[in-house]
Amino acid sequence: MDMNRPFTIGVLTSGGDAPGMNAAIRAVVRAANTHGASVLGVMDGYEGLLNGEFRPLGARDVGGILQRGGTILQTSRSPRFMEPHGQLEAIRRMNEARMDGLVVIGGEGSLKGAYALHKQGVKVIGLPGSIDNDVWGTDISIGTDTAMNTIMDAVDKLRDTASSHQRAILIETMGRNCGYLAVMAGISCGAELVLIPEVPVTIEEVAKTIGDAYKRGKTHAIIINAEGSGVRTSEMAERFQHQDVGFETRVTILGHIQRGGSPTAYDRLLAARMGIKAVEGLLEGKSGVMTGLEGFDIVFVPLEEVTSNRRTTSPEFYQMTKVLAR
Ligand code: F6P
Repeated sequence: MDMNRPFTIGVLTSGGDAPGMNAAIRAVVRAANTHGASVLGVMDGYEGLLNGEFRPLGARDVGGILQRGGTILQTSRSPRFMEPHGQLEAIRRMNEARMDGLVVIGGEGSLKGAYALHKQGVKVIGLPGSIDNDVWGTDISIGTDTAMNTIMDAVDKLRDTASSHQRAILIETMGRNCGYLAVMAGISCGAELVLIPEVPVTIEEVAKTIGDAYKRGKTHAIIINAEGSGVRTSEMAERFQHQDVGFETRVTILGHIQRGGSPTAYDRLLAARMGIKAVEGLLEGKSGVMTGLEGFDIVFVPLEEVTSNRRTTSPEFYQMTKVLAR
């Protein structure tokens, strides 16, 4: 590296957006500036890295974004980058822009991309950003807490109307491979049953659970179905139109509403801590690691470990949903 120019850090957001990504970008820029380094924002995730879409980010450019959902850098899922020639092109673009290090904010797939770059000699540090909380090596990812609060708000409202009409509501949450959001919603919002990818459940079991809740004199039944559970919410709804399960049923698919919105205090704090830690790591010469929350501490976890494991929902939490559904 030329000692007469500042260390230059690229930052990108990739994959599904998550509330708190902007707070992380801001932390990266301001921490870098504090240490005399400069930052290039990479637009549109790995697509922008491939296309050389970089723009300088100074402290003022990241003003007013802390409380905003989404990502000012925009994001994408880039199949092109997953190919070896795509990665070589991205490295060529980085060298051209004299980028000395890269911060990647994203979920599982994005961190795999970061690890691939590290193996080719790029200095890279990842930040876990995903509402699903399926990233190995961190207690929680940036965005998960906000999504949880969005779900909680929605389920509380749905419970009001379900109770007034004595209905069962089938609520679908996101979470392709991981039931974290559904299970935590089940505990914090009071669900009769939670369906998650990790524990197979049949539609008949769902019908029985709703029927039993009715017989026990409940005024409503809340069923939370993680999108990746293997049971389609629409199929359940269709079945319960014709099958007597006690309660009349209605359906709500929460969908992408879970990905938006202003980040909670928890997510802003997590993003700030991880963003600063990543910059410090790069300046100390670290690479091939992700910032992870371990208890109260932010630690570095090797990307090799992060990308070869998947975080699943704790059976203990799943069991709690059963205990609380009496
Ligand atoms: O990984 C985050 C996530 O929101 C998943 O829960 C969901 O399955 C997926 O992204 C949806 O992706 P897209 O926004 O591309 O439809």
